[in-house]
Amino acid sequence: MQKIEIEGGARLKGEVFISGAKNAALPIMAASILASGANRITNTPQLKDISTMGELLSRLGIGFESSGDEVILKTDSISSVEAKYDLVKTMRASVLVLGPLLAKMGKAVISLPGGCAIGARPINLHVMGLQKMGAEISLSEGYVKVSAKRLKGADIHFDVPTVTGTENIMMAAAIADGVTVIENAACEPEVVDLANALISMGAEIQGAGTGVIKIKGVKLLKPLDYKIIPDRIEAGTFMAAAGITRGSLVIRGCNPAHMESVTDKLRQAGLQIEQKDDVLKVKCSGKLNPVDIKTMPYPGFPTDMQAQFMALMAVSEGTSLISEHIFENRFMHVAEMKRMGADIQVEGSTATVRGVRSLNGAPVMATDLRASASLILAGLAAKGKTVVDRVYHLDRGYEKIEKKLKPLGAKIRRIK
Ligand code: EPU
Repeated sequence: MQKIEIEGGARLKGEVFISGAKNAALPIMAASILASGANRITNTPQLKDISTMGELLSRLGIGFESSGDEVILKTDSISSVEAKYDLVKTMRASVLVLGPLLAKMGKAVISLPGGCAIGARPINLHVMGLQKMGAEISLSEGYVKVSAKRLKGADIHFDVPTVTGTENIMMAAAIADGVTVIENAACEPEVVDLANALISMGAEIQGAGTGVIKIKGVKLLKPLDYKIIPDRIEAGTFMAAAGITRGSLVIRGCNPAHMESVTDKLRQAGLQIEQKDDVLKVKCSGKLNPVDIKTMPYPGFPTDMQAQFMALMAVSEGTSLISEHIFENRFMHVAEMKRMGADIQVEGSTATVRGVRSLNGAPVMATDLRASASLILAGLAAKGKTVVDRVYHLDRGYEKIEKKLKPLGAKIRRIK
């Protein structure tokens, strides 16, 4: 199993380019099920999750090729409607084929994802929405089977805004009969990117990016030719890296408009941030201030940046409160950070982080994707050597992280 070794203490300096957003690329790849022909997607990050989605789509009969940041998906015919457990268990986003398969083929069989390292993460809202559109649902042997001769537009209200749930319904509704309205829809930029991709295929969608999305079904969609938005979480992680190492980074190819809640909190923490077009210049020379955060659906502070922000607060000069409101078990990194000397107490959904003068390098274990990123950040700031184990979590969501960090001065390497 691969590990990442970091000798902490180097101030990061230089320029880094942000890759395309994983969480936009995955649903947009799934949208290729809806159109016949060759779909082209660019600015796709080169990640394990992207190749897993490619593998899943190829098992459905779709041709998958990738070269650099370009992915080609050839949808000539769909030969299977099943997403099996072996893939779904490695990537929950596999559930994104549910809506498009049902709409296009009239049926889909998807392994239930079950719980994961960050919480129970049910898909009841996805299923409820499809049921409202006329789908019949049955559960057997850990699989959910859905079928419908024709999906019909419906008014769907989500109890909580769900990102992939909104995406599944949007894809199903794009070629259903009539109008679907999603209320309390997720507003994340990745949902908007999927809506824009579907619109470029000929779908009629209004309101993406607000809590109410209206989709008027059309008969046919044309193949995709679409460029993915930049990854706001990767960009936020590099901003935090500049902060925790008291460094100075020029972060290129990002969309600062998607990152305001993060930028605002990092400024309060003492980072100097300038933004212009697709560039963020981030510097931190003085002390880090303690700042409280609460994770919320977009445009609130993203849960996917909570662990990285905690690493920064672990070395701030004071006490901060970090509350997690999206997932019930997203504090797995705390125990690992404590092994590095962090002073953190968790009670319910809130972590009290008392900043320490410095962290000490230690062997630590990555438990999920963003937890892994937070341990890399902690390792960059720590005294001595940190070895992060189980980096396959990191490879699911960060493109060549050590190759991007090394030219910035980080003493980091991948070891077997
Ligand atoms: N929820 C339900 N029922 C459902 C669906 C969701 O109760 O049917 C609850 C969840 O348990 C959670 C909340 O709703 O408490 C929000 O979850 P959501 O459905 O929005 O999460 P997701 O769609 O499964 C996506 C991202 C996650 C990101 C979350 C929140 C993708 C592929 N994944 O997950 O990304 O944390 O939205 O923003 O888009 C990551 O990249 O590291 C990652 C975990």
